[in-house]
Amino acid sequence: MIVLETHEVTKKFGGLTAVNSVSMTVNEGDVVGLIGPNGAGKTTFINAISGLNPPTSGQVKFFGEDTTGLTPEKMCRLGLSRTFQIPSPFPKMTAIESVMTASIFGNDPGVVKDHTAHSREMLAFVEFPMDETVVAEQLNTVQLKRLDLARALASHPKLLFMDEMASGLSEGELQDIMRIIHKISKKGISILMIEHIMQLIMAVCNKLLCIQFGTKIAEGPTEEVANDPKVASAYLGSEEED
Ligand SMILES: Nc1ncnc2c1ncn2[C@@H]1O[C@H](COP(=O)(O)OP(=O)(O)O)[C@@H](O)[C@H]1O
Ligand SMILES: [Mg+2]
Repeated sequence: MIVLETHEVTKKFGGLTAVNSVSMTVNEGDVVGLIGPNGAGKTTFINAISGLNPPTSGQVKFFGEDTTGLTPEKMCRLGLSRTFQIPSPFPKMTAIESVMTASIFGNDPGVVKDHTAHSREMLAFVEFPMDETVVAEQLNTVQLKRLDLARALASHPKLLFMDEMASGLSEGELQDIMRIIHKISKKGISILMIEHIMQLIMAVCNKLLCIQFGTKIAEGPTEEVANDPKVASAYLGSEEED
């Protein structure tokens, strides 16, 4: 079954075309890696799909329905949730309260009977390393990303977007996140993840999509895209410019 289909999605910021006519699909069970150099338009692309910053043109279909331009809260209720490259938690809320907010507002009424228990389950699922009563502003970036993931999962997504979940992780933490991503996938949640760390991409993704200057340059099985000379030169090109 096709979970997500984009057709020529374009996002312009004034004169800058950040995403240029990107068409792609996510099938049920996929763990798709969205790769490409810094500034390629990866975050803008998922913002356009998830409703945070709707596309300038093009079409988004979620489970066959046209969802182009729907708000993030509508997309969330339909089964799309996400984490952020830079998490922005409610700073004064505790971890459990943060997840409960998503559990209460992200699900249709009646789906979750006990929001506290459900939220506690989500924190355990992501192996949140702190006590549930810790206040968000006391967390470091790695811990915040884990909380952000628990929050995203609390609304029962069918498709999960992750934006650079693994940046800044130690080797041990990388192994942890790999295991957690496998667990999410086993739950039947399809995944589209923006990621730079090849070790993680190769371990969890069955498919890759590479964009450069807002344009899709490769899409296909992980091994094939990872070995595509166009993809290698996209990364090398960006290093030369930096
Ligand atoms: N809200 C915005 N307004 C103007 N330009 C933006 C905005 N968001 C992103 N951009 C620009 O769009 C391009 C793609 O950015 P982004 O999607 O963040 O790239 P990536 O996630 O691949 O690193 C960059 O040139 C960036 O400066
Ligand atoms: Mg980004």
